Amino acid sequence: MENLRESHMQQRVGRRVVLFPSPLQGHITPMLQLGNILYSKGISITIIHFNSPITAKYPHFTFHLIPIDLMEHEAATADVIDLFLLLNVNCIEPFKDCLVSLLANVEEEPITCVITDAVWYFTQPVAESLKLPRIVLRTSSVCSFLAFAAFPLLHEKGILPIQDSQFELSIPELQPLKVKDLPVIETRNPDALNQLISGMVSQTKASSGIIWNSFEELEQTALTKFRQDFPIPAFPIGPFHKYFLASSSSLLSADQSSISWLDKQAPKSVIYVSFGSLAAVNEAEFLEIAWGLANCNQPFLWVVRPGSIRGSEWIELLPNGFLEILGGRGHIVKWAPQQEVLAHPATGGFWTHNGWNSTLESICEGVPMICQPSFGDQRVNARYVDKVWRVGVHLENKMERGEIERAIRKVFVEAEGLELRERTMVLKEKADNSLKQGVSSSQALDSLIRCISSF
Ligand code: UDX
Repeated sequence: MENLRESHMQQRVGRRVVLFPSPLQGHITPMLQLGNILYSKGISITIIHFNSPITAKYPHFTFHLIPIDLMEHEAATADVIDLFLLLNVNCIEPFKDCLVSLLANVEEEPITCVITDAVWYFTQPVAESLKLPRIVLRTSSVCSFLAFAAFPLLHEKGILPIQDSQFELSIPELQPLKVKDLPVIETRNPDALNQLISGMVSQTKASSGIIWNSFEELEQTALTKFRQDFPIPAFPIGPFHKYFLASSSSLLSADQSSISWLDKQAPKSVIYVSFGSLAAVNEAEFLEIAWGLANCNQPFLWVVRPGSIRGSEWIELLPNGFLEILGGRGHIVKWAPQQEVLAHPATGGFWTHNGWNSTLESICEGVPMICQPSFGDQRVNARYVDKVWRVGVHLENKMERGEIERAIRKVFVEAEGLELRERTMVLKEKADNSLKQGVSSSQALDSLIRCISSF
């Protein structure tokens, strides 16, 4: 891991790439990390964005705003799927205009390609119309992408739309997934979801290559299948966050009391609980989590994002004196410095929604997981954590205090926990190793740089 400052000294290679992230936290973070990785190889970076507050933290990048009022769009759409469908239409003109003016700017290095989030499928024809190659960044796992790509087949076979009676049915084409693990996203408009996924998959196939925040040793089988089905160059160069000392792309400010509180806890004793930037629970589920944690006897650090409990502002539903009764055994924050928390010696387990960033961050610190997926790719990631990598316990979506207590005990007290921990450490070492010179991710990065330089 190197300090990004050192890479400022790196000679520029006279090439510039334009990055266009999706505005969600779980997508913007890996795109900015990728920007830093490419920058460290001498490539200059321009970011096209809506109105992100992170620009000040990246003075070495050039930012261009496109005139789309995200808040207005959010308010006008029923849900996130509708929003993305609409943005894939409404961004065409402003994105193209922005690219045209960037291409005309002779004061900067020539632009060799665009790298856009897989959800921005509209950027493929735009890039083609300007004769610019487009490389896709897919910010989640390869295994979940393959599940999305199988949607037409699953529709044909009558597996989609999901019927409750088929929940436990295995899907031979997507082993070890069951129907309940399919990456569906609740939406008022299922057609919109199918359209979004089909756009993402077909325009990925049409692209000049794909970058994965994953590594060969973790997803070898899925990558082999991907390469068979998608005849484009694939660059698994992850885990991105391990290239440099933590640089923040957090849209919320992290509560540093998380670390001072962890400093007072015994090694490997704390269960860290966080469900990422989007997942929400209802009031009853929130109370089950609270009592599960209270009853489990392990110290806990719990991130309760304001707005993540439907119907409540924050933690006002907790009984009076809840934390006081526990005598300091629990600490609740609105947002934590997650990478630091996972790397802290006191952290012994991570109860997570299995967003891909969280999953990778946990693996990279050797922290076993308790899996509580909420929607989309999280379900696939969780099943892989449980059945393929065997570094976590799946809660099977039950938010019930007894279940929660048992899962925490399994990780911290029972022999199974020790085995989980050992396997996670083996994966952590593989992740560290993949970034060493001449090993898989580092080699894939060399190929990516060669590819960008060849355009
Ligand atoms: C979204 C989707 O929900 C997820 O399924 C997909 O894989 C990526 O996009 P999100 O739900 O936010 O992401 O989860 P995740 O991918 O885990 O990303 C969350 C990021 O926020 C992580 O990098 C994590 O370190 C950070 N985080 C989270 C904090 O810094 N502090 C916190 O308190 C919680």
